[in-house]
Amino acid sequence: MYRAVEATRDILPPESERWAFVEEAARRVFGRWGFHEVRTPIFEHTELFTRSVGDTTDIVSKEMYTFTDRGERSLTLRPEGTAPVVRAWIQAGTGAEDEVTRWYYCGPMFRYERKQKGRYRQFSQIGAEVIGGAGPDVDAEVLEMVMVYLGELGVADVQLHLNSIGCADCRAGYREKLLAALGDMDGWCADCHRRRQDNTLRILDCKADREKVQSLPAIADHLDDACRAHFEGVQAALTEAGVLFVLEPHLVRGLDYYVRTTFEITAGGLGAQNALLGGGRYDGLVAGLGGPPRPGFGFALGVDRLIMILPPQAGTPDASDLFIVTLGPEAHPLGRRLASALRRAGLRVEFPPPGRSVKSRMRQADRGGSRWALVLGDNEVARGAAKLRRLADGHEVDCPLQPVTELLEVVRGERG
Ligand code: HAM
Repeated sequence: MYRAVEATRDILPPESERWAFVEEAARRVFGRWGFHEVRTPIFEHTELFTRSVGDTTDIVSKEMYTFTDRGERSLTLRPEGTAPVVRAWIQAGTGAEDEVTRWYYCGPMFRYERKQKGRYRQFSQIGAEVIGGAGPDVDAEVLEMVMVYLGELGVADVQLHLNSIGCADCRAGYREKLLAALGDMDGWCADCHRRRQDNTLRILDCKADREKVQSLPAIADHLDDACRAHFEGVQAALTEAGVLFVLEPHLVRGLDYYVRTTFEITAGGLGAQNALLGGGRYDGLVAGLGGPPRPGFGFALGVDRLIMILPPQAGTPDASDLFIVTLGPEAHPLGRRLASALRRAGLRVEFPPPGRSVKSRMRQADRGGSRWALVLGDNEVARGAAKLRRLADGHEVDCPLQPVTELLEVVRGERG
């Protein structure tokens, strides 16, 4: 027996309906903010990720699904969506200097991570990227959009954590302060000792040494004037838009392309993997990948995690409008024609194969929540009429059958 690969899974009905629901809601809400969908390939040249996400990050150094294809190219299943979107933007050659591109995407990403609740090796993200637009209003507007989206889905108990990690200049000065405060790092974990050399800021993200991290200097206290003004501008615009946030002085992200604004939204009910989404500003990324100098800002949300905290009723499929049960060899073809005509006319119709008793079928209709049921036997065929039964209260309506199907067939042009 074959099973899905470890830390991957099948999304089966009715859960799959909830996935479609959150994706449709994203299209609707993001569209109101002027975003358009982009679809990029599932795999890319490996170098795209090493150069953008950063080769000392966990994602690149430990988690990528990298393989050599038959043409001896090193390819990688995308571990995230920002670098591919920026690559696509550069490749398409779009964007005059003052133009702002707003693109969103939905789809699977791949990271070889330890299996845990809410953490998979194939997981799905809904993300949005703004390329162009350097001002703090861009950051605030996108964050407002995210909060409206979560609100419309009925997701409660979320918290927006906000920080600024400044630009490369602020960070160089801050790194010195950080190294001084770290001293010889007695008692810190092995990962942090390694990070001290190759990615000092990531020490702030250490889960094992969380308490020690709290006593380290905050990067937001070491911003230069321009970065501080940007950060204050984001906070002012969020406050004006009524978006609540908490400042998180030690929030750094696991990808190297960020400058200035970084953020995460956590949600209650997710357990240890409580980051529902994350993102930030990446003003150097477009140029870093060979494009023109353009600022960027975006986020990505983990759909697997979103589904876990969606209100129970959200996105559950509508029950059928009508359940047709047939008895006898003549009734079945009539049932089939009726089902076909009504489905084409827009109704949700269940029409199971013959064989089981009427009683068992009616139980099935009840369990599935169908609104109406119709039992067709020889008597109904002879009369050309049948009783429609409303399952909620047993109310019955006697309806002629043939004229309806005939009318629909004529209108559809299937009969002269
Ligand atoms: P990220 O924080 O690596 O950011 O991922 C964003 C979200 O994807 C996380 O908050 C989480 O909900 C979900 N996620 C990540 N890994 C897994 C996993 N193994 N299983 C389930 N869910 C997961 C990025 O990917 C950036 N590209 C975000 C961004 C867009 N920044 C700017 N634009």
